[in-house]
Amino acid sequence: MTQELTSPSPAPRAPGAGRGPAWWRDAVIYQVYVRSFADSDGDGIGDLRGVRERLPHLRDLGVDAVWLTPFYASPQADGGYDVADYRAVDPLFGTLQDADELLRTAHDLGLRVIVDIVPNHTSDRHPWFTDPETARQRYLFRPGKGEHGELPPNDWESVFGGPAWTRTDRGDWYLHLFAPQQPDLNWENPEVHAEFEAILRFWLDLGVDGFRVDVAHGMIKAPGLPDIGHGAQAQLIGSQVLPFFDQDGVHAIHRAWRRLLDGYGDGSGRQVIGVAEAWAPTPERLALYVRPDELHQAFNFQFLNAPWQADALRTVIDASLAATSSVGAPTTWVLSNHDVVRHTTRLGGSLARARAASLLMLALPGSAYLYQGEELGLPEVTDLPDEVRQDPAFFRGGRATGAAGPGTDTESAPDGVAAAGGQDGFRDGCRVPLPWSGEAPPYGFGPGGSWLPQPADWAPLTVAAQTGDPASTLELYRAALELRRRLPGLGDGPMSWAPAPDGVLAFTRPGVLCTVNTLGHDAELPAPGTPLLSSAPVTVQDGTARLPGDSCTWWAI
Ligand code: NOJ
Repeated sequence: MTQELTSPSPAPRAPGAGRGPAWWRDAVIYQVYVRSFADSDGDGIGDLRGVRERLPHLRDLGVDAVWLTPFYASPQADGGYDVADYRAVDPLFGTLQDADELLRTAHDLGLRVIVDIVPNHTSDRHPWFTDPETARQRYLFRPGKGEHGELPPNDWESVFGGPAWTRTDRGDWYLHLFAPQQPDLNWENPEVHAEFEAILRFWLDLGVDGFRVDVAHGMIKAPGLPDIGHGAQAQLIGSQVLPFFDQDGVHAIHRAWRRLLDGYGDGSGRQVIGVAEAWAPTPERLALYVRPDELHQAFNFQFLNAPWQADALRTVIDASLAATSSVGAPTTWVLSNHDVVRHTTRLGGSLARARAASLLMLALPGSAYLYQGEELGLPEVTDLPDEVRQDPAFFRGGRATGAAGPGTDTESAPDGVAAAGGQDGFRDGCRVPLPWSGEAPPYGFGPGGSWLPQPADWAPLTVAAQTGDPASTLELYRAALELRRRLPGLGDGPMSWAPAPDGVLAFTRPGVLCTVNTLGHDAELPAPGTPLLSSAPVTVQDGTARLPGDSCTWWAI
């Protein structure tokens, strides 16, 4: 008998977000990069109304929650990660009422909503910074070195390139680990703690279900702000503890925030969560951010950085699970986000690998984060002209695309794989607005154009074009998420490795076995069960399964 299968026939979907109090332990959370998701007013920039109108797509996709990137009042020097007012919606994106309506609609659709919080730095247009008196207390100002204070206070470099210090008209210097328009806050000042706790309460009172904490490893700096002693510091991020990143002192902040978040639980068991965007040198140090009294989740960038090789993937998966289970937390898997080269391109420009990697991720224990457009198999856009670029790192000459850290940089990525295929290491290529429908740009993104140009050949990739096509990447994601909901053995829970030929991974979850063929050619193994879902057509003949190269298959066992 020969069986061939790519996607199962569609089954009715359960309503979202019904997973009990600890919903986050195995939630699939979809990242909406607001300015590139959907534009409701025709200015070419995505907005909150656009997100609200397109929420049914996310319900149909089958995700549990949405993470919205910053939509607060901001001069947009770093895509909104430079916040001037944490309680206001930037007019580019709408109004507070739009945010409120978005939250209500999402909840009505069974989707939870997480918002970004940016505590390491504000915008230089934030009223605390524009007032020289408050600025001195609440930011990190230091006198310069040299006879006339003309040299920066230390040798720290900005993640975006160049010195991490800028001199003011008054002659002193302020620290900015990112762009000069993003001065670092002084977390030794209790007023900073009080203000951020009030901001968290503001959004919790509006009904958000949690926060993605930007640069959660950055707020505390080593006493005395010591020199590092050499350059190329962006490439050290995540490979060692630096005097400005992953200092032990940050954990006290996360513990305080966890107490605050827990205070928002209600009688019905509502749990609001914090997820750390933290770069730590080892899985063990990353696990410290998700101890029971700290944040709930931390992005697992080690997995994102792993090359497409069976042994390497297995090592990272084992290390990640061991580290998080040592503190009782689930692992949080991610393959793409707004700071890194899209994984279709990063994994050798191979859609087959990207589809396989996605199915692998969704079969692993814990929670998974999807980045908008990966469900369409979108590639990185690699031919953006200089005049449309917006990434501040592009203008500062930084090599690390990763505002966020390493692995977005070709030199520091393992085998150079993680960043392969991007356009000169900057982040605009993964932020190109989504194609929804139609034959030509802006592909239904909105009634106007799009703030970054979309490729002319994206018509087959639109949501409309892929819907109903069982071979499409969109239907693969829908089928995978539907199975995750239907099969209790997926999501949180145990996994164990099963025997497999070289280059192939096999592991079991309760009731399910997952095979991943990382080789560029077919591999065979005794059929482990009945195929449930596969990223490429898999065949079973006379008890032998033939796994296509670069494929992942879920089997019912
Ligand atoms: C990480 C964010 O993901 C990135 O986009 C931003 O540039 C930096 N943090 C600075 O806020």
